[in-house]
Amino acid sequence: MLPCQRHFFDIPEDVAYLNCAYMSPLMHPVIEAGNAALARKTHPWELTPDKFFTGSEEFRETAARLIDASADGVAIIPSASYGIATATRNLPIRTGQHILVLDEQFPSNYYPWQRLAEESGAALKIVGWPEDGDWTAAVLDSLTAEVAIAALPNVQWTSGGTLDLVRIGKACRKIGAALVLDLTQSLGALPFSVREVQPDFAVAANYKWLMGPYTTGLLYVAPKWHGGRPLEENWIQRANARDFASLILYTEKYDEGARRFDMGERSNFALLPAATRAMKQLLNWGVAEISETAGALNRQLAAAAEEVGFSSPREELRAPHYLCLRRKAGIPARLPDILARQKVFVSVRGSSIRVTPHVYNSAADSDRLISCLLGQMAVTKRKVLFLCTGNSCRSQMAEGWLRHYAGERAEVSSAGTKPAGLNPTAVSVMREAGVDISGQRSKHLDELINQDFLFVITVCDAAREACPVFPGALYQLHWSFEDPAASAGMEEERLAVFRRVRDEIQVQVQQFAEREGFLPR
Ligand SMILES: Cc1ncc(COP(=O)(O)O)c(C=O)c1O
Repeated sequence: MLPCQRHFFDIPEDVAYLNCAYMSPLMHPVIEAGNAALARKTHPWELTPDKFFTGSEEFRETAARLIDASADGVAIIPSASYGIATATRNLPIRTGQHILVLDEQFPSNYYPWQRLAEESGAALKIVGWPEDGDWTAAVLDSLTAEVAIAALPNVQWTSGGTLDLVRIGKACRKIGAALVLDLTQSLGALPFSVREVQPDFAVAANYKWLMGPYTTGLLYVAPKWHGGRPLEENWIQRANARDFASLILYTEKYDEGARRFDMGERSNFALLPAATRAMKQLLNWGVAEISETAGALNRQLAAAAEEVGFSSPREELRAPHYLCLRRKAGIPARLPDILARQKVFVSVRGSSIRVTPHVYNSAADSDRLISCLLGQMAVTKRKVLFLCTGNSCRSQMAEGWLRHYAGERAEVSSAGTKPAGLNPTAVSVMREAGVDISGQRSKHLDELINQDFLFVITVCDAAREACPVFPGALYQLHWSFEDPAASAGMEEERLAVFRRVRDEIQVQVQQFAEREGFLPR
């Protein structure tokens, strides 16, 4: 395990950056390499033709060490999607065959396959979310004879579940399916070996776990595809590229190995040296050590988060560096903003909080996250706000019901965008059901706008009304009820509508109170 390496980075003490899966911070030596690289073009006469090749080869060789391949197998690309597009261009597929992807896979490794399936008459098959969290078993079960291409990650994007690529690679070879990998969320943080997995194509964008600048990436191409067709045709991929004077002696021949798949302007004098420097530092630390270090932080975090009500996949089924925390009630989309105000940085992806530490983090950062989550839950712990337009019937009845069921266990209020006063019929039908709401008050939501609530629940008729939005809600729910005050007819008919809506609200509130632990235990 590595001691904290924060001194390599410019991360202020009060920042808990636990979001490497979003974007890694650049290290000091990477910035230095990048600044020097950018400055080289102040003297273009020093950027001699050989420099178009030396920097690229250094990048290729360093990347090759990270994936346990030879430099010949590495192409230089700008993004994961570029590499995936290269794979789609080269892999044969027929009508009726299948392309396998995972549920909630990152779009750059989904859309290209969807398009290929459309164009070729193949079918896109999505491996469903496994109930036991075992993505490897789910993929192995899905590798039927029809599968021609399995396009997969090493780490599933929204659960952090890992795939055993050695077993999957073997199974693909057995049925003759090509294996295409997006390693963007794993390479550099999870040991990986081309020799062991034997993919056909593998891509990784550099700006996350490879700790490099944006718009650089690598593509591994297996030798059997080295005769393939690149995405673009440019001069530097060709065999005669080193002789600048003779470039117009056009040639059919490409440069060796995977170099033909390099993007145009791949020599990228400004960014490649920084990307290479970052990868060298990862190799110095050791990928296994990085994985272990991030894994230890996440293990502690998972245990602490569990006590605050968050669950995560079983340790043996998830990537050590990539922890996805879930909560029964879901994760509020605005939680990252609330945490960011306290300088704690994580992401929400799918229905998880994604916590992705690196060697610059320490237990202090994990503690900050946990105490912020705890604090947030405590501040807003039992506060529930029911909202509708008039705050006269539905939100008032919901307030009454929750107070009835939860008692002291909830702090309940209600408000509206155009408060119309407490409706006397709502009071009387609630009284019939044994709940006295006559002491409740109809009020404008502006009175509560500066408060934080655990739940804000809108109870308007979504089909007919514009539901208000409330900024301070950790969870915003919507239940649609007809407005009884708007019902027409004789007194008895109107009363019947009030009673029906009262009962519908009662059922919803009771279920909610039970689910969220507001009932006496
Ligand atoms: C799994 C995965 N692949 C790829 C990318 C980036 O794709 P691209 O380089 O095509 O922008 C991301 C970005 O979040 C990602 O999470």
